[in-house]
Amino acid sequence: MNFGIIGCGVIAYTHATALKALEAEDCRLLACCDIVPEKADAFAARHGVPRVYHDDASILADPDVDIVCVCVPSGSHGEVCEMAAKAGKHIVCEKPLEITPERAAAAAALPEKYGVRMQSIHQRRTMPAAIAAREAIRQGKLGKVCLAEADLKYYRDQAYYDSGDWRGTWELDGGGCLMNQGVHGVDLILWMLDAQIDTVYGQAATLSHAIAVEDNAAAVLRMRDGSVCVIESSTSAYPGFSTSFSIYGEKGTIIFNDEGIVEWNFIDPTDAPPRPDRLGEAMGGSKSNVNITIDGHITLLRDMARAVRDGREPMLPPRDAVLAVKVICAVYESSRTGRPVKF
Ligand SMILES: NC(=O)c1ccc[n+]([C@@H]2O[C@H](COP(=O)([O-])OP(=O)(O)OC[C@H]3O[C@@H](n4cnc5c(N)ncnc54)[C@H](O)[C@@H]3O)[C@@H](O)[C@H]2O)c1
Repeated sequence: MNFGIIGCGVIAYTHATALKALEAEDCRLLACCDIVPEKADAFAARHGVPRVYHDDASILADPDVDIVCVCVPSGSHGEVCEMAAKAGKHIVCEKPLEITPERAAAAAALPEKYGVRMQSIHQRRTMPAAIAAREAIRQGKLGKVCLAEADLKYYRDQAYYDSGDWRGTWELDGGGCLMNQGVHGVDLILWMLDAQIDTVYGQAATLSHAIAVEDNAAAVLRMRDGSVCVIESSTSAYPGFSTSFSIYGEKGTIIFNDEGIVEWNFIDPTDAPPRPDRLGEAMGGSKSNVNITIDGHITLLRDMARAVRDGREPMLPPRDAVLAVKVICAVYESSRTGRPVKF
């Protein structure tokens, strides 16, 4: 399976490294492309990529490229994915899928419209603790889930925002601490809860960076069953903290963070699902944008290659990545208007 990477910046490195680890499984990084030619050339030299392109049309015209990893700024995901789908390429798209609910929905429709496969990257969904928590909730082992929390305290300095002219802009980042960093945790908590959202209450503010978008936000989500989910997100919280997820039910509680399981506590211990002995390495990133671990990307890229080979849908189709964008945009709207947003 021949992969191409479009956008040779920070996260492209993770894709290249993950693909290297998958070489024994018949995956090859054949081509890369960046509209800044020096970036494409330097990336190709560093990772030994045989074919280098400086515009999207050229890499998409390469008949040997089967799957493209779209690693361009978030607000360009939809446009680049649509070009790729039109060219018949299968697609791996970085998070967030797009930056508005409408554009995310359009991106989610691409596989059906063009008959291609598409995988979204939300690598935390591959964490054993998250998988076990979701399963326990689905099986009712926590009883009624009453309260959930996602605690997403990242730190990014001004130099981070200054390192790319798209960072911290509404046009291409689509938001700040929630849309860029927090989207991982928002996606994860909604996925674990299988969230049926009724109302979103949000507040967002720009407090410690010279950027247009928010660097602090908090949200309360009221679910259709009346339960409550609280999300706190920041890129101002020096030095950056382990992200943490708590799910409280009447019969049990699960809490885990980037370091491990904090609580795996059930009224009836015999009813507790197995506590994962390892958390998985699919986390990281709260202190810096360049220390993203690669386990999750390996799992999602391997699954994508197999999905294309076997003619099946990949494990994280883009329709599953729309809800996080919708919730984040609802937080922005609620903060702007001072009113709750009904789902
Ligand atoms: N999964 C994760 O943990 C994770 C981590 C970091 C970034 N990301 C996501 O990856 C995307 C890129 O982020 P980054 O930090 O690597 O950004 P970056 O600025 O480091 O890299 C983006 C690159 O894309 C290039 N580019 C822009 N438009 C292009 C186009 N149309 N065709 C080809 N190249 C183009 C730019 O020149 C730049 O080199 C974002 O959507 C971000 O949210 C995901």
